[in-house]
Amino acid sequence: MKVLVLGSGAREHAIVWKFSRTLGKESLFAAPGNAGMSDLATLININPDKDNGAVVEACRQNGIDFVFVGPEIPLANGVVDELAKAGIAAFGPHREAARLESSKVFSKQFMNRNGIPTAEAREFQHEEEFRRYIETVSGKVVVKKSGLAAGKGVFESSDKAALLEFGIEVLKTDKLLVEEFLTGYEVSVFVLMDGKHYVMLPPCADFKKAGEGDTGLNTGGMGAVCPVPCITPELKSEIDSAIVKPVMAGLKKDGLSYKGLIYIGLMMTESGPKVLEFNVRFGDPETQPLLMGMPCHFEFLANAVKDQKLDELETEGAFDFTGRAAVGVVVASEGYPGPYRKDCGVTSLPVNRSDLMVFHAGTVRDEEGVLRTTGGRCFTVTGLGETLQEAADKAYAAVRELQFPGCWYRKDIGKKFFG
Ligand code: AMP
Ligand code: GLY
Repeated sequence: MKVLVLGSGAREHAIVWKFSRTLGKESLFAAPGNAGMSDLATLININPDKDNGAVVEACRQNGIDFVFVGPEIPLANGVVDELAKAGIAAFGPHREAARLESSKVFSKQFMNRNGIPTAEAREFQHEEEFRRYIETVSGKVVVKKSGLAAGKGVFESSDKAALLEFGIEVLKTDKLLVEEFLTGYEVSVFVLMDGKHYVMLPPCADFKKAGEGDTGLNTGGMGAVCPVPCITPELKSEIDSAIVKPVMAGLKKDGLSYKGLIYIGLMMTESGPKVLEFNVRFGDPETQPLLMGMPCHFEFLANAVKDQKLDELETEGAFDFTGRAAVGVVVASEGYPGPYRKDCGVTSLPVNRSDLMVFHAGTVRDEEGVLRTTGGRCFTVTGLGETLQEAADKAYAAVRELQFPGCWYRKDIGKKFFG
């Protein structure tokens, strides 16, 4: 099998690393990839966010027979449809199903039509109607831009002026939703699908805020854990029957089934789990701890999804996390999530081991071979142990070793689950 992984983040580094357990460099490609992957895969310098044709061409040139799509933009642009036309198998939804992530209006309509528990919401297209509605709401509500916004399209407040300001800006280019504010705790549930079978993976949790104790600005995610101890087997089966089964039935009924993964962002409320959002790809940074804990080789997973044999893999224990827990800590650039410092030389990098991986995101190697930062979130340092505490201790010992000017990280990733 020759595999091409699309994307350049720490999530994609984790996916490439997982494939590399059984695939040598001659069989593994990444586009565009990053410095962390360059020992494991051949990097192809194209932009999959902008150029489906270049992806298909790269597959032809390199004899690729399976494409694993990391990020959402190529999916929303229909890269899987283009690959299918060229007879190349892929992990990820076709363009229509990708709307479950790329249009919150489409996704809310899907949930309502299929009886999937979610926050009550109203859809708006015109400013006047939106203004009139905001005058009538009381307490905290959530305003959401419908289209992709890289985590910046959601605003929660009880301040009507602030809600109006945010929403009016959104309405200049897009539709929006005004949603009931839900309280509880969040978990990320990843469900693998092969078109016939599905497997719910152990729930993960990410830490979106920049500050300790979940305070401060929103980020792309400052760390993640897998599994989440408070999701007991009973709660997992409640999530399966209340959420996952109706989602699977809805996908089938609406002709939206695909071979890949659906990420269900849940709020665990007092009246049961409710869906906050769908993503149609693996989450970042949740994937980094999830893949360290997952016993299954990715080559086997890719083949099972392609050949509709996920059920067999599950029976073999490929997704059994018993005695395995992982914690990923993001190391970010000075200033992130605001304007951040770039091009810093990495002066100390921990050595990877089977229970400790440094997944790269924003890194390049300069002409002298020095590793330099290019992004806001530069690394996810991920530890694997028998418990979350042990995994976190390993991750943090390595985080303290990792050095570049101005680097910073949250010191409490996972702590609320074991501290
Ligand atoms: P979304 O992109 O829809 O997942 O929203 C991003 C984040 O905003 C979520 O992970 C939640 O932390 C928060 N959020 C979104 N919708 C709601 C809601 N209805 N109630 C409370 N928090 C929400
Ligand atoms: N961790 C959130 C996301 O991947 O969208």
